[in-house]
Amino acid sequence: MENIAALDSLFQPKSIAIVGASNTEGKIGYSVVHNLIESKYAGAIYPINPKDPEIQGLKAYKSVLDVSGDVETAVLTVPAKFIKSVIDECGKKGVKSLIIITSGFSEVGERELEDEIVELAHSYGMHILGPNIVGVLSNSDSMNASFAPFLPLNGKSSLVSQSGALLIAMDASTYTRRVGFDKLVSIGNMSDVNFGDVVGWLDNDKNTNCITLYIEGFKDGRHFMEVSRKAQKPIIALKSGVSAHGAAAAASHTGSLAGAAKVYGAAFQQAGVVQAADLDNLFDRSLALSLQPPMKGDNLLIITNGGGVGVLATDAAERFGIPLQFAPKDVQVELKKHMPAFGSAKNPVDITGMAGTEWYVDSVRYAIAHPWVDGVVVLYCETAVSNPLEIAQGIKAAVDEAGVDKPIIVSYVGGEKSENAMKWLVENGVPAYGAPDTAINAMAALRDYARMRELMDVNDETHHEVDREKALKIIASAREDGRDSLTEIEAKQVFAAYGLPVTKNALAKIEEEAVKLAEEIGFPVVMKIVSPDILHKSDAGGVKVNIKNSDEARAAFKTILENAKAYKADADIHGIVIQEMAPWGTEVILGSVNDPTFGPTMMFGLGGIFVEVLKDVTFRVAPVSQGQAMRMLGEIRGAPILAGVRGEAPRDREMLADTITRYATMILDLSDEISESDANPVLVYEEGKGIKVVDARIILKKK
Ligand code: COA
Repeated sequence: MENIAALDSLFQPKSIAIVGASNTEGKIGYSVVHNLIESKYAGAIYPINPKDPEIQGLKAYKSVLDVSGDVETAVLTVPAKFIKSVIDECGKKGVKSLIIITSGFSEVGERELEDEIVELAHSYGMHILGPNIVGVLSNSDSMNASFAPFLPLNGKSSLVSQSGALLIAMDASTYTRRVGFDKLVSIGNMSDVNFGDVVGWLDNDKNTNCITLYIEGFKDGRHFMEVSRKAQKPIIALKSGVSAHGAAAAASHTGSLAGAAKVYGAAFQQAGVVQAADLDNLFDRSLALSLQPPMKGDNLLIITNGGGVGVLATDAAERFGIPLQFAPKDVQVELKKHMPAFGSAKNPVDITGMAGTEWYVDSVRYAIAHPWVDGVVVLYCETAVSNPLEIAQGIKAAVDEAGVDKPIIVSYVGGEKSENAMKWLVENGVPAYGAPDTAINAMAALRDYARMRELMDVNDETHHEVDREKALKIIASAREDGRDSLTEIEAKQVFAAYGLPVTKNALAKIEEEAVKLAEEIGFPVVMKIVSPDILHKSDAGGVKVNIKNSDEARAAFKTILENAKAYKADADIHGIVIQEMAPWGTEVILGSVNDPTFGPTMMFGLGGIFVEVLKDVTFRVAPVSQGQAMRMLGEIRGAPILAGVRGEAPRDREMLADTITRYATMILDLSDEISESDANPVLVYEEGKGIKVVDARIILKKK
């Protein structure tokens, strides 16, 4: 959406018409009017009903056209068959936006009807939220324009949910979880206003500190990424439905590995969106992100009065990606002053079960202000000698006094007194959780957020000299042959046009030519059959390696042809490729898919058994910057192999990352043509010695 401000009318309308308002309790049209009144909505409420002159004590109108004042937004709760005529009236009235609660559109196969209502609304310059939604709720505007029974517990995050039922349930659970929201937005079928639009609007909303998303699927993944990358506020997402997607019927290796979990994970990473593992985690992380600043470094300090919770937190810190370091000497010396002799000032800092408010406060005050410390987690086990609420108040005062832009998170394990203290903490802006690992996980969200943003600031641009015309010509000639995949030679030519380091190749049709080309390329060489009918060349006896001289080349030519004919008598044989025999290196695989949500997407992994058995691969949506490509190399389990293990020299990761960026440029640039591709294997040599693409495969989009 070009003009995000157009959505003001959806989220902060000064007047609302409810078309389909009703006096019959239990109807949705009843609930919306009732909820607007109950929430003390201050704007004008115009119930629209064909029969009743009064709805729930408010003057009602037969049509929105009968209202004399302005109507900024209309909530539609009439059956689907009436929606078009109602939209028409709203348009004529000059309504700015529509909240369409009604079901019965694309979610039940009525896509055409949905397209029609969007077109109609747009013809009047109106936007549609929904259809098939619960509505919009806003604490800061005292507005419950929905059929969810009450406004959520007030909070500093706003939640956008694609599931209506879940939104109503989450609304109720805000009170039991003690995690509040300012706005709840039900987004439904996203016929018009989509996730990216709402994120863009909430990013400018002064009452929203963090944008919390429950996502089932995007319509336009790239738009969401673009908006999220530019957002100034943290975004946290829970994506459901990641188990079976896209992996079916893939023509390439990469295609079979590109599940939704991995591709969405990559897109979130690139867009700086923090991920939640489940619903509880969504609430917990959202609370921390809405109340505390990001953690801008890796130095987490834990202060505890109990060894057990300290160890649990230490384990969790490693698990969630912020492993603990010992605090520097000066920190240890100072902290030692605020604990008994048998305490520990390392990290976790154990001020022991004897700790009362004073030791907690003194330790927190010192630690949070120290330049080494990037974030503090305070753990507390309820004891007979301490007062949980007093400690909570002391911690808060110490943090305020320090006046630093660093996060603090608390975990209390105990009974009712501890519960009350945690409630006080959350109400006063300090996230508090009932388990140490949850507190660490919440801190990890603040660290993840900062880390993603730090990386995003690094130059994300990719500029490569490319020969697009040449690549397109090769593809066009394959299409002219009636093929929807390229031969290895053609695929390598396309790769080479985008600067990927491919092995030297030449195609020989007859024996003499093969010998001549092998001599030109230089021995040893590899010879392989080229036939669109023989994809698994080795199985067909169509590959000979380490050919050392002209005689061997002559013999290999004959044998390969014989084998190929024996394998498939009527195979269409283009010839035999003579290829430079690349020296041994670490085998990796690069590949691409055209993801249904995000478009051209890159994959990287170690080759052979790592990809076949362990599926140790990682993804990025194209384009991929050098920094992101380096991260890809670091995030697979087999990363140490590239870094150099057991005395082996590190591999040329710079060049490999550079190749990933070029590959990503290629699939983006040729996204109309390339469906899937693999470069497998790619051999990676020692640092400074480069890499070589040994085999390549490109599958074209069907046209
Ligand atoms: N203008 C104004 N009011 C109209 C109207 C029109 N053109 N046409 C009908 N109405 C009135 C009806 O008279 C009725 O009021 P009444 O109770 O005074 O008679 C009211 O609108 C509702 O119409 P009704 O036919 O009773 O429908 P309903 O309330 O049974 O169902 C929906 C309407 C929209 C709730 C239903 O079609 C639907 O889509 N339900 C699912 C909604 C949902 O769950 N969405 C979220 C999914 S997460």
